[in-house]
Amino acid sequence: MIRSVLIGTGSALPARRVSNAELAAQVDTTDEWIVERTGIRFRHIAGEGETTATLARDAALAALSAAGVTAQDIDLIVLATATPDNTFPATATKVQAMLGIDDCVAFDVAAVCSGFLYAVQVADSMLRSGVQRRALVIGAETFSRILDWEDRTTCVLFGDGAGAIVLEARDTPDDATDARARGILATRLHADGRHNELLYVDGGPSTTGTVGKLRMKGREVFRHAVVNLAAVMEEALAAAGLPTDAVDWVVPHQANARILDATARKLSLPAEKVVMTVDRHANTSAASVPLALDQAVRDGRVVAGQIVVLEAMGGGFTWGAAVLRI
Ligand code: COA
Repeated sequence: MIRSVLIGTGSALPARRVSNAELAAQVDTTDEWIVERTGIRFRHIAGEGETTATLARDAALAALSAAGVTAQDIDLIVLATATPDNTFPATATKVQAMLGIDDCVAFDVAAVCSGFLYAVQVADSMLRSGVQRRALVIGAETFSRILDWEDRTTCVLFGDGAGAIVLEARDTPDDATDARARGILATRLHADGRHNELLYVDGGPSTTGTVGKLRMKGREVFRHAVVNLAAVMEEALAAAGLPTDAVDWVVPHQANARILDATARKLSLPAEKVVMTVDRHANTSAASVPLALDQAVRDGRVVAGQIVVLEAMGGGFTWGAAVLRI
């Protein structure tokens, strides 16, 4: 059967790295509070000339190079973001132009922190339909530009960055337990719009005519996150026909180290199998999963043949998981 096989990963971070101590000089917080409650020590913040599109382009170029394909080999770009360069056109089309791709399908997906999981399922469906053959799936964000830098309950939690993967349609054995069955084995997505007010941006083109700032009731988000993430990972593994102990790595959305620990415990997954980058990147929303995946591939932890589970939850709420064999 046709599956979407991961053939390359890449990522990009803004040049400027900001420590907790630097934030503590601006807002009423401390390094100790941030580390204890979230595990975050650093985040990267976009500077002049760095935008969601430029970070996405750099991550895409790294992924193309790792995959050994050129930009012209790509016929689909799905870019997940909640912080596009402009209200329109889609940032994906800016990235297309920056990469010099004459013609392809290019659009954005908005599902906030779960955006990359949504983008993966959309791209996977399009590749398996046989119409497209090779996709760049990108998560890219500049959340620093929608943060209220006077609100200590939110501004310490987020950072900027981008991650990208190249997926290629390939014929693979039907049986997902066959070691040659590479690629995306199952995906599961959910949304529950009743929780809009727990995590949202208080502006937009059609309401205020402004961009707005991020608002969040952190404690409630935390409670929902652990329950939903554990459930959707179990659901995706069941859909792939794999037991939890077949999992080599979980690459979670990097919101908070305590959420990652609690979710792993709920599934009885050892902490050593969970890729953790939240200490260095903070929460980069749709970029966090592909950023963490790329780091784990580049430092040699995630290797061919392994079973990897991607998962994320974010504003909406939206949440999802994907199971793949590398
Ligand atoms: N520095 C110092 N103190 C802070 C602070 C900061 N940056 N932010 C909040 N506080 C204070 C609060 O004002 C509160 O003080 P009070 O008790 O005097 O009222 C106290 O710390 C505890 O706040 P609370 O919100 O209850 O803390 P918490 O243990 O729930 O941790 C989060 C806060 C945001 C770290 C936590 O709820 C969380 O991680 N939630 C999930 C958020 C998330 O991941 N969202 C993205 C999902 S995509």
